[in-house]
Amino acid sequence: MNPTIIEPFKIKVVEPIALLTREQREAHLRKAGFNLFALPAEAVTFDLLTDSGTSAMSAAQWAAMMIADESYAGSRSFFRFEKVIRDLTGYTHIIPTHQGRASERILFALTVKPGLTIPSNAHFDTTRANIEFDGGTCVDLVIAEGRDPQSEHPFKGNIDLGRLEAFCREHKGSIPLGMMTITNNTGGGQPVSLENLRAAAAIYRRHQIPFILDACRFAENAYFVQQREPGQRNRSVREIAQEIFRLADGCTMSGKKDGLVNMGGFLALNDSKLAEEARNLLILTEGFPTYGGCAARDLEAFAVGIEEAMDESYLEYRQATVRYLARGLEQAGMPTVKPPGGHAVYVDARAFLPHVPPEQYPGHTLSCALYREGGIRSCEIGSVMFGKRDPKGKFLPAAMELVRLALPRRVYTQSHVDRIVEIARDVAARATELRGLRMTYCPKYLPHFTAQFEPM
Ligand code: F0G
Repeated sequence: MNPTIIEPFKIKVVEPIALLTREQREAHLRKAGFNLFALPAEAVTFDLLTDSGTSAMSAAQWAAMMIADESYAGSRSFFRFEKVIRDLTGYTHIIPTHQGRASERILFALTVKPGLTIPSNAHFDTTRANIEFDGGTCVDLVIAEGRDPQSEHPFKGNIDLGRLEAFCREHKGSIPLGMMTITNNTGGGQPVSLENLRAAAAIYRRHQIPFILDACRFAENAYFVQQREPGQRNRSVREIAQEIFRLADGCTMSGKKDGLVNMGGFLALNDSKLAEEARNLLILTEGFPTYGGCAARDLEAFAVGIEEAMDESYLEYRQATVRYLARGLEQAGMPTVKPPGGHAVYVDARAFLPHVPPEQYPGHTLSCALYREGGIRSCEIGSVMFGKRDPKGKFLPAAMELVRLALPRRVYTQSHVDRIVEIARDVAARATELRGLRMTYCPKYLPHFTAQFEPM
């Protein structure tokens, strides 16, 4: 029998979590207009809304924060941070920002204009929004398996190389940069293979298109490469990550994921002219280039955290947790997107609640049920987020009705996951009784954050 994969840490600081009665949760749900973003976090027992900025920091990170140098210019903490990031990525210019989207905003403000188009395996929402804000167009070229919830392909985040090659040829002169998101969050936290990254880099290079990684979850991606890709088993995650970064010309990074910090990010570039322009923009809205959008203590915590994120016993435990949750949900009767991704389990709510039509939001219905039953906060990725109405008012549902259960890093233990699965089983036992929701308020942009609902 294989030994149980344990949490490779012991707990030094604890924080109470809310234990509420069903009546209390019911009242909170009504008060929030059945929108889980409107819940006070104190009313949530298991907060699986996101893995972003929700990590537990280590003793080493807290210790590093205490010795940070908060000088406005030339802080010692910046040089330490810069060294760590440069050793890992190999990039020449390391520009700290307060989070991933701040790096995106600066990069695209300098490179994107109306008429230009940016290919990727799949752009994340904030990446897309920042590119479109500057008048550019986003194109997602993920492989067909990446759009099939049941496909067991080991690298469902891969880009379709044939389509990428054709796209680069067809749009010659109007592609300011090409991207790859590792792992592919919108597609279920699915990894990209090293082979695919090498081939995509070669295509971009042949077409003289700068290649920029969205590297938020680079360590989880590198771990999947080590575990799943032929010939990679004997390499360290760090070595694989170093190779991945060196295939590209720069990256945007949200430290709130694989930086294991609550706030922080960076933009890294090899192009000196572009970096100079980026620093000039940085000064306008983020800050001086040796702190960017961060306090020096954030940079210290980030420098330690990004190394800890490549620790292989940590990554083994993290993947084991995601797999354990996915298996538990499946056994509880909730179909999930396969195989489980790096940071979250995605439940296929359309398959779970076939009697709830898309215009009554099966994903959101399931999200609310998980909260009502046991205080789990999840995130709908379906028709609330992406549904539209045509000019005649006809409802156009999203491609998939998913519910994301994202796992904060180092926060919950195995018994938490066991309890989450019990709650899912209780919800599944009464699935046929669940009724959908009617949207009573729909804001103009990003409806999932502020929409209001009432039960049918
Ligand atoms: N790129 C990816 C792939 C992301 O998942 C995110 C954030 C960002 C960029 C933006 O980074 O939040 O630091 O500005 N994803 C979070 C999530 C919000 O819940 O998946 P940020």
